[in-house]
Amino acid sequence: MVYLFGAHIAQWSLKNAQEVLFMSKAAVFDNSTPIRGGIPLVFPQFGGGTLPSHGFARRSVWTVHSMQENTLVLSFSDNKSTRDLWEGNKFTLLYSITLESNAITTSFQVENQGETPFDFQALLHTYFHLSDITTTKLYGLEGQSFTDKLSEDITVPCVQPNEQPLVFDKETDYIFFKAPSQVTLVGLALSQKNDKEMEKNEKEKDASCFASNAQDGTVTIDIQVNNNGSIDTHDIVVWNPWSEKSIRMGDFGDDEFHTMCCVEPGCVSKWETLTPASKWTITQTLVVVGGGGGGGGDGVGETKL
Ligand code: BG6
Repeated sequence: MVYLFGAHIAQWSLKNAQEVLFMSKAAVFDNSTPIRGGIPLVFPQFGGGTLPSHGFARRSVWTVHSMQENTLVLSFSDNKSTRDLWEGNKFTLLYSITLESNAITTSFQVENQGETPFDFQALLHTYFHLSDITTTKLYGLEGQSFTDKLSEDITVPCVQPNEQPLVFDKETDYIFFKAPSQVTLVGLALSQKNDKEMEKNEKEKDASCFASNAQDGTVTIDIQVNNNGSIDTHDIVVWNPWSEKSIRMGDFGDDEFHTMCCVEPGCVSKWETLTPASKWTITQTLVVVGGGGGGGGDGVGETKL
């Protein structure tokens, strides 16, 4: 389920209706508040500054560029409001979403349509639905350097110990830089929705009532960044707000941190520079295994706008 507001993937269900992504019960669907859950897009800026937090892409209404078989492509270009906000920069964004029975590929492309270079940051801010954050493990970051955004001195990099997957026991807000091209998250809650629950969801726009019949699963996240024809480095942000921050967040349930984490590929530790007519693309493919039959099938997806 994709909203044109923010080109936001709100739900991604496997063939047997198991929901992979987390969506907060408190998420707001008012076409102006960024949606809390699913896959928000961060562009052109990660942190604070002159632009709205995480940029304007997740707060803008996109249009359908094309829809063929199992691929939907959405687009968004500069307008007066983005030019006023962002130094007059001219750009086109394309976001392509391809479904298979147990996999989804989301590819975000930025093209500079102006006559001067511009700098930007971008993230695919993916929320996963977990059985239990305290038993979840993220593999692939062993021995990798990261910035702990919550540490007193963020200029001092930390290192994830060798042979230890990342686990969660507190508020976590890490930026792994020069990150690997594949990580694996073990601990997905692949809950089975029944028809009644799905109907209720439709009515209430609430994608979070998937607690019943939870079955653990694993998702492998493949990441690639292409900068004007060459493979480039990328970051991975790992986030869980834990208890106190959850209470402070108005559009997030106080206890929901138990059943979610974000693994967010992108470019945020530095600024990417895009010269006129050049393109930058980040692609993530999520492949899910487990949960009682998510894999296999005919490979055909259905995208609902
Ligand atoms: C993560 C950031 O990417 O997003 C966190 O690293 C932030 O610092 C989180 O709290 C949620 O951001 P927002 O703007 O959606 O509340």
